[in-house]
Amino acid sequence: MPLAVEHPELLTYRDEFPLLQRKTYLNSWALGALSQRSMQGMARFMEVWNEWGAHAWYHGWMDEIVQARKNFASLIGAQVHEVAIAPSVSAALSSIASALDYNTRKKVVLSNMDFPTLAYQWLAKERLGVECRFVKSPDGIYMPPDLFATEIDNQTALVATSHVYYTSGYIQDIRSVADIAHKNGAYMLVDDYQGTGQIPINVNTLDVDFLVSGTLKWLLGGPGLAFVYIREGLLPSLAPTIAGWFGHRDQFQFRVDELIFRPEATKVEMGTPAMAAVYAANGGMDIVLEASVKSICERTRYLTNDLIARARERGWTVRAPQEPDLRSSIVMIELDEPQEIVNALIARNIVVDSRPGLLRISPYFYNTIEENALVIEAIAEILEQKKKA
Ligand SMILES: Cc1ncc(COP(=O)(O)O)c(C=O)c1O
Repeated sequence: MPLAVEHPELLTYRDEFPLLQRKTYLNSWALGALSQRSMQGMARFMEVWNEWGAHAWYHGWMDEIVQARKNFASLIGAQVHEVAIAPSVSAALSSIASALDYNTRKKVVLSNMDFPTLAYQWLAKERLGVECRFVKSPDGIYMPPDLFATEIDNQTALVATSHVYYTSGYIQDIRSVADIAHKNGAYMLVDDYQGTGQIPINVNTLDVDFLVSGTLKWLLGGPGLAFVYIREGLLPSLAPTIAGWFGHRDQFQFRVDELIFRPEATKVEMGTPAMAAVYAANGGMDIVLEASVKSICERTRYLTNDLIARARERGWTVRAPQEPDLRSSIVMIELDEPQEIVNALIARNIVVDSRPGLLRISPYFYNTIEENALVIEAIAEILEQKKKA
């Protein structure tokens, strides 16, 4: 795992993000900042549309989709034909969920700290006989891989869980969970939405069968585009029971009476993609690839460790792993009425977020130690004012 390293050279990217000149932006876990590159990409999208009308598809739009798949494939160590696009992670998950056979194996194992949309795919299938089982974190931070072993058995079709937990920032030991799943003949699916871009990942090293992620957060690409990875060996037999014309092998033959899926992962693609989002996403992914996920992770870890140390110095309880190399850039501070603090910070031009009982701060590589100091000082002042009120 990468160490904490300052990487001051990454600060040159601050000029790419006009938002950072106006605000202290510490909320990338929810939405990455908008870059000049994404804005230029969206301007190109409009230019091509305006110039060519429907022929825009052949004058850039189709190529941009191919580029998005390539960018994502290189971020996760996959081959391009193993990657498909989707409008959201929820939609990508629905395709995968539709393709599995629950007749012989009806159990799906998840954890209680995953993002809810992951579980919803299989909870929605309970009336078809699917059984969801949830392993429970002992402390709301960690998830020891052995806990999965207590639920996974020869009735398990799939294990689906997060690489990085949005609830605590903990980086889960996916390889160990995948080994338990595979030993029992189950598939392994990873939700990497809170990881891709900020934490290096390689689907082959982690031995996962499916991975979903999107561009909203650490990939700096905004809303409207997500990805699904399907391991090459599964492609020939994987047959979704939801479909669209973009997944047809002979899409432009327009055959109405026969559905033949593409041989690649694009078999799960459904309908016309939101092209502005694809352009914006490529701008963001271009920056992440250029800066390198390893360097981003090292700098983000440097900032996160500093932020946690500052919060603890104030006597606040931080919900984060003790071991720095298991942390990601999602820092939860236990504080009363966090939404009030968020609002008071907004009034000071500082953007963070909250969940019940928790203030959430997420520095990214484009943030600075000074911004960490500023947000901690501001919170302390706001708490002091609340005490006096
Ligand atoms: C870990 C994780 N998975 C999934 C989602 C939801 O993805 P989508 O809205 O694209 O379905 C989020 C969104 O915040 C998330 O943090």
